[in-house]
Amino acid sequence: MKLNKEEISAEEIVKDCSRFIIKAVSTKDIRYVVDVSAHLPSLHADKRAIKQILINLLSNAVKYTPKGGQIDLSATVSKGHHVFEIRDNGTGIPKEKLPHLTEAFVRGETDPHKAQEGTGLGLAIVKSLVDLHDGELTIESEVDKGTVVTVSLPSDIG
Ligand SMILES: Nc1ncnc2c1ncn2[C@@H]1O[C@H](COP(=O)(O)OP(=O)(O)O)[C@@H](O)[C@H]1O
Ligand SMILES: [Mg+2]
Repeated sequence: MKLNKEEISAEEIVKDCSRFIIKAVSTKDIRYVVDVSAHLPSLHADKRAIKQILINLLSNAVKYTPKGGQIDLSATVSKGHHVFEIRDNGTGIPKEKLPHLTEAFVRGETDPHKAQEGTGLGLAIVKSLVDLHDGELTIESEVDKGTVVTVSLPSDIG
């Protein structure tokens, strides 16, 4: 895939992506807290790819967070990178599953009686889009405590 990079406002892209999950968030009574400064410098990246990344991660956060939970999304700039952090206090992911989640079709829960709907492709797509930007994806998680996904992308300015 060829990237089509342009100047992107972090604040705007976060607003755009939030629209996609706001309904599910309110249905599940989830507290959704966004922390993005209006003064962040812009990011030079592929807009469609960044949206795809954030929407996938936010959808996972909503899907795997029970009613009444909380999701935090923040964007900061550090060491020439834009850092997006999506944090939830949902189900978490078992340690042994963590290293494989970005492989295609890998799902945390495979028991059809317990599993949420999904293909197991979301994180694989996220990982390849982050790689295309020479960025970094990290997933930290603890069962029953929650999950923190961090996407660090070169700001690519100048
Ligand atoms: N925020 C999260 N909280 C708990 N588990 C998660 C979260 N995000 C991803 N996972 C786990 O990682 C697996 C892979 O995620 P993904 O590739 O998006 O596939 P899908 O959402 O279709 O199952 C999921 O099946 C789920 O078990
Ligand atoms: Mg998913």
